[in-house]
Amino acid sequence: MFFRLLTLWLCWILDAVLTIEPSWSNFFIGEFVTFKCDMNEGKDTDWEYKTNKDGRELIRYSTIKEATESDSGGYSCRGRRDYFFSEWSDIITLTVSSSNRPVVTLYPNWSEIYRGETITVRCEIHGGDTEWDYEWETNSMIKAPNQNEYRIRSASSSNSGNYRCKGRMKSSQHETTEWSDSVTLTVSDNEPRPVLTVSPSWLSPGASVTLNCEVEHPSAGWSFYWYKAVPDLSEKSSSYELLPDGNGTAQDSYIIHGQTHTAGYVCRAGRGDPEYHTDHSRPKFVWSADVHSAASLTVSPDRVQHFTSDSVSLTCEGNFTEWRVRKFSEDGRLYSDCRRMTGSTCDINTSKSDTAVYWCESGSGEFSSAVNITVQNDGNGPILVSPVHPVTEGASVSLSCSLRTQKILSNVFFYHNDKLIENDPRGELKISAVSKSDEGFYKCQYSGRESAQSWMSVKGEQDQNI
Ligand SMILES: *[C@@H]1O[C@H](CO)[C@@H](O)[C@H](O)[C@H]1NC(C)=O
Ligand SMILES: *[C@@H]1O[C@H](CO)[C@@H](O)[C@H](O)[C@H]1NC(C)=O
Ligand SMILES: *[C@@H]1O[C@H](CO)[C@@H](O)[C@H](O)[C@H]1NC(C)=O
Ligand SMILES: *[C@@H]1O[C@H](CO)[C@@H](O)[C@H](O)[C@H]1NC(C)=O
Ligand SMILES: *[C@@H]1O[C@H](CO)[C@@H](O)[C@H](O)[C@H]1NC(C)=O
Repeated sequence: MFFRLLTLWLCWILDAVLTIEPSWSNFFIGEFVTFKCDMNEGKDTDWEYKTNKDGRELIRYSTIKEATESDSGGYSCRGRRDYFFSEWSDIITLTVSSSNRPVVTLYPNWSEIYRGETITVRCEIHGGDTEWDYEWETNSMIKAPNQNEYRIRSASSSNSGNYRCKGRMKSSQHETTEWSDSVTLTVSDNEPRPVLTVSPSWLSPGASVTLNCEVEHPSAGWSFYWYKAVPDLSEKSSSYELLPDGNGTAQDSYIIHGQTHTAGYVCRAGRGDPEYHTDHSRPKFVWSADVHSAASLTVSPDRVQHFTSDSVSLTCEGNFTEWRVRKFSEDGRLYSDCRRMTGSTCDINTSKSDTAVYWCESGSGEFSSAVNITVQNDGNGPILVSPVHPVTEGASVSLSCSLRTQKILSNVFFYHNDKLIENDPRGELKISAVSKSDEGFYKCQYSGRESAQSWMSVKGEQDQNI
């Protein structure tokens, strides 16, 4: 009987228990750990406790306020009352490691995503071979499933939002990582439409033409597709034909060598896998003024400038039966309907909005030469009378100035590129043998009023047959 009591007493003495809070063993730098040493399940209060780390130091540990890696190690404790010591408790091993806060990444990581693109939001934990379950938190309208990877096959603005994730150990569900920083996914419901620029706008015969295709956020992984426009009179628009080697280029520019005729181009861009395509750009043109091309456009009366409400006829010439007249206005808009088309002639009663570049397109896909037409703004002011088509070197040309009511016969000043040509005012500016240096902008001035200025282009004799 006595022996039995002694055994119980001894057991009671030996029973020191170390616990920590939180009750797991992997901590991250900076976390707070509480140690608790108990005898007799906390019923005895007059024990003094000591905690031992790695069997060496005797320290009075009760908390670690901000864990560091050097706090890693085995901990045990024992109690002392008077001259009695309990045995050391079982050892608890604590691991303090650098933070394994996960990282959210977007693949691809373009700053703006468009509706319909494919994107993957990923939660990456660098936690060795630990297996994790994943949790997402997001303010997007569509929630991410609890997996490490959220693949959005066709994004929409409902996927926009901030995303953050954390991992939860598969083996020990109460052990989690911290939340990752949040990453913003922005899905735009706009369809991106690239903007094409064509340079130069007006061709010198045989020159190179450079196309540039610009998408917003140009660095973001686009490749480019290049097309020429093929007029299709049965539709309002045109159809597009891929240019040679134009099926996906890394560069956002494309060069056409030796272009001789008026032509239209469009581009579009694509990126990703599966590839997402933007809309086609609006068509842009390079214009040739060369009347010797298979198709040309003549203007009657034959001058660049016209008064408002003038009757002007635009006639398409060439061996084709079907035509449409196109117009590219100053504000960059393309029109294809002529209000009154009789055969191959379009009659217009001019208004200010008719200031534009005009050309013809045939039913079989030909572009004609192009002309500038300027409709005068100032109803009482003069217009410059200058040729619509380029003048050949060596030929003679005569510029004049006209009011709505009559041609002006005296007291006219002419300007070439804003420089007054002659001090001797007269009715006409006659150039008996035109040279390249006569090319440029001309305007006239009469009675304190100026006409608009118009370009007179001069072509070399050798260019005639191109
Ligand atoms: C996308 O990732 C690349 C490296 O993979 C990096 O250089 C670039 O800055 C990132 N872009 C954005 C918008 O995060
Ligand atoms: C353009 O390239 C894609 C593959 O990148 C191909 O599927 C397509 O048929 C090509 N189009 C033309 C007209 O060559
Ligand atoms: C039309 O005007 C532009 C300048 O506004 C000029 O560069 C171009 O050569 C002109 N075209 C013709 C056919 O005169
Ligand atoms: C042109 O239109 C204006 C009004 O828009 C009209 O007053 C004028 O008579 C028209 N001229 C011709 C030749 O049709
Ligand atoms: C016009 O086209 C027809 C058929 O395409 C051809 O037979 C004829 O020779 C052409 N005429 C001229 C002047 O080019």
